[in-house]
Amino acid sequence: TQFDTVIHSGQIATADQVFAGDIGIKDGRIIAVAEKIAGGERRIDAGGRIVMPGGIEGHAHIAQESSAGVMTADDYLSGSISAAYGGNSSFIPFAAQHRGQSIDHVLETYGARARRSVIDYSWHLIISDPTEAVLQDQLPRAFQQGITSFKVFMTYDLMNLGDGGMLDILTVARAHGAITMVHAENNDMVKWMNRQLAARGLTAPRYHAISRPELAEEEAINRAIQLAKLADAALFIVHVSTAGGAAIVRREKFNGAKLFAETCPQYLALTRDDLDRPGTEGAKFMCSPPLRGRETQDALWHHMAMGTFESVSSDHAPYRADETGKFTAGFDVAYPKIANGMPGIAMRLPWLFSEGVVKGRITLEQFVALSATNAAKTFGCTTKGRIAPGMDADIAIWNPDVTRTVTLADQHDNMDYTPFEGLQITGRPEHVLTRGASVIADGKLVGTEGQGQFFGRAPVDLRARPGVALPEFDPAQNFGTELR
Ligand code: URP
Ligand code: ZN
Ligand code: ZN
Ligand code: ZN
Repeated sequence: TQFDTVIHSGQIATADQVFAGDIGIKDGRIIAVAEKIAGGERRIDAGGRIVMPGGIEGHAHIAQESSAGVMTADDYLSGSISAAYGGNSSFIPFAAQHRGQSIDHVLETYGARARRSVIDYSWHLIISDPTEAVLQDQLPRAFQQGITSFKVFMTYDLMNLGDGGMLDILTVARAHGAITMVHAENNDMVKWMNRQLAARGLTAPRYHAISRPELAEEEAINRAIQLAKLADAALFIVHVSTAGGAAIVRREKFNGAKLFAETCPQYLALTRDDLDRPGTEGAKFMCSPPLRGRETQDALWHHMAMGTFESVSSDHAPYRADETGKFTAGFDVAYPKIANGMPGIAMRLPWLFSEGVVKGRITLEQFVALSATNAAKTFGCTTKGRIAPGMDADIAIWNPDVTRTVTLADQHDNMDYTPFEGLQITGRPEHVLTRGASVIADGKLVGTEGQGQFFGRAPVDLRARPGVALPEFDPAQNFGTELR
């Protein structure tokens, strides 16, 4: 028979349309999409359910040490399993350079860690130490290996590169067609707020949110965009958490900047009031940028519906609420010593489907774009994120009708809490394939350790982003061609 697998009787959802049809798969690839496909060694009956590209999780911290040295609770086995239960066929976690490390060492380290993954993976490279060797040799070499996205931080003393360091990275990225991702919060504003709060003895988790004002994000987003325009480089703003930040992104993007952005479920599902929960509970809701207010949630939903964001990503940063994670510095410490971040890789898509599609805030097509198709374009995943002949058979089959109450057990991660506990969610991925192989079948794990493979990526697709004409600042014109 011509097909290894045929998925039949589904409602196929893409970023552009929804239609009844079948999918024929051979050797891990989609080779046919048609109204009816006969045959197949294995036939999967989608039974009228939604068949869509498997999610691409573009923002997750897996087997990664924080700058303070705390290891995430999820490694590539538990993290990829949790991702698969959440409807993802692949993910792009971070490979983080800590100061003093070479990029080659970082990629070797993460290469060893990722071998356990049950879904396909690639990495965004976090750069904290842009030495000449890194800029001249190591980043170009990483790029050659298909690592086409670099992430930088404008905050955290051990990560922050300063504006000049960012311009250096942006320029190298521009020369190779890489995209630079940025965590945008003004470091000095945050540090100044920390000093004000410490001087007044205000140390509870709720002050974490107060120490990182919306203005700090808005200022840094604007600055990052202007730096990228100066270097004529592509920029991706991660985890936009403010209405003001989203408005800046929208304005600049539709003025032609080579700009991309994401937001995350936690900023739409939770608020800073969650930080006021008693005892150690509040710390579970500490992430950076911090949770905001209700009015921010409305604004972010409008921006999502209007196309301001390419993606909704989890920012899965799993630090357990115990002495191995949040509280490595002790339980009775001030908020700056509590690890930042919350888990959510299994909830990203079910939450977005339930609150977005089921409640009519976004269309199913938008959901597909936000969960996979746009990430594939932005990050150069040329064989993923779409249902079409020639693409990897990365597919998720969703039952849109089942409703459940979110529990920790449902996350299948290595965490001791979920910030989404107790929410009612409608819609569930029941079958997830990575390159044609089932990872989740009938809602249960069937994938095996190590079945995921590394995928290299292409340069960012800038066809819809012409850039802003600033010829007087064009580095290639003004400094010769060596920067290209
Ligand atoms: O609070 C978060 N998001 N922790 C993860 C590290 C980062 O800021 O990206
Ligand atoms: Zn090392
Ligand atoms: Zn971040
Ligand atoms: Zn993050």
